[in-house]
Amino acid sequence: MKTPYYLYDIELLKKTLSFAQNSAGKYNFNIHYAIKANHNPAITKLISQQGFGVDCVSGNEISEALKVGFKAKKIVFAGAGKSDEEIKKALQQNILCLNCESIEELEIVEEIAISLNKKAQIAIRVNPDIKAHTHHYITTGTEENKFGIHTSQLKSALDFVKNSDYLKFVGLHFHIGSQITNMDTFINLCKRVNTIWKDFNISDYNPILLNMGGGLGVDYEDAKNNTIPPFDEFFSVFAEYLKVPSNISIHFELGRSLVAQCGKLITKVLYTKKGVNKTFVITDAGMTELMRPALYQARHYIENTTSSRNPQRYDIVGPVCESSDVFGKNVLLPETRRNDLIAIHSCGAYAESMMLRYNMRQKIKSYIKNITNELLLSDNYENNKNQEYSCKELKTKETML
Ligand code: LLP
Repeated sequence: MKTPYYLYDIELLKKTLSFAQNSAGKYNFNIHYAIKANHNPAITKLISQQGFGVDCVSGNEISEALKVGFKAKKIVFAGAGKSDEEIKKALQQNILCLNCESIEELEIVEEIAISLNKKAQIAIRVNPDIKAHTHHYITTGTEENKFGIHTSQLKSALDFVKNSDYLKFVGLHFHIGSQITNMDTFINLCKRVNTIWKDFNISDYNPILLNMGGGLGVDYEDAKNNTIPPFDEFFSVFAEYLKVPSNISIHFELGRSLVAQCGKLITKVLYTKKGVNKTFVITDAGMTELMRPALYQARHYIENTTSSRNPQRYDIVGPVCESSDVFGKNVLLPETRRNDLIAIHSCGAYAESMMLRYNMRQKIKSYIKNITNELLLSDNYENNKNQEYSCKELKTKETML
């Protein structure tokens, strides 16, 4: 099979989804899948079939979500820079709400709602100024970030919506960052939300929902053994610490925690190259297929699935013309040789969806591993010209992966 490719374990995805749903279900919480994490139809179709809502950040994501079966009434739409066309699309599709991020945006949404003679459902995204204690590129809820409305402007925003005949306030939205593993951060967020709710008399604006965003982290180090994120712990924090009226429906937008661990990037070793002080393993996948290490210094668990020879230390790098094209430094692997297969774990989230064409790299294929370990070619977007989303083309058995 041509490498590199993404490989998704559908049974693990199903298991993860049902864990998440059961944990959230205990408190009647609603989960919207953050489709930016992975929009491969083999994955999104399954998530929509399980009854999840969806969180979109572009007009194309809204179209794609509808195409794979998510209900319009379960779509939330965030983003600091929604274009007029995207706002129009959201209103025409009657989605659950636009998570609006500035007063300037509210003005444009109102203008477009007037032109369509529609009432736009609005959640206001508040920037709570909370530290997410994660990489600064995936922190979104502090004053320095472009996201959300600062509390100093919140009252004006609330009143703007209240006084408009074409806007309907549905609630507040928060999202403070991603890959958050310390539950204290979410406890702090809950406390801050309670204060904001009280200080701004949110109940007086007739809200129906509170959206707490996503951000639950996964275990990148022990990805092989720790496949299910701590959903119970996560949701119980919000059940315990959020103090908003009981008629308010609580929503979450989870991306990474639902899909990261079900995916791997499979790549072949092109060369093991002797350097002066180290040995490089040069793979046929690069930052173009997984840019998280280059962008956030992220480290994924890397495994040589071919070799059981004696362990050695390697720098594992891709073929792309960038020095940041490094998957791991000083990684212990069994002695690695040309043509060995390498599995990079936790690539179900923010890998395929962030694929790049830099160096004119080819878009790679993705395969789905089903219950009998058969690998099926998945129709990712390049292959789905005929709009068919089912798995097709039984390929081969590769039980090693
Ligand atoms: N809601 C909003 C408004 C978001 O901006 C995000 C992620 C999510 C929900 C989902 O967050 P999650 O549950 O996946 O943490 N490319 C980066 C992550 C960027 C996250 C952007 N926003 C990475 O690979 O780590």
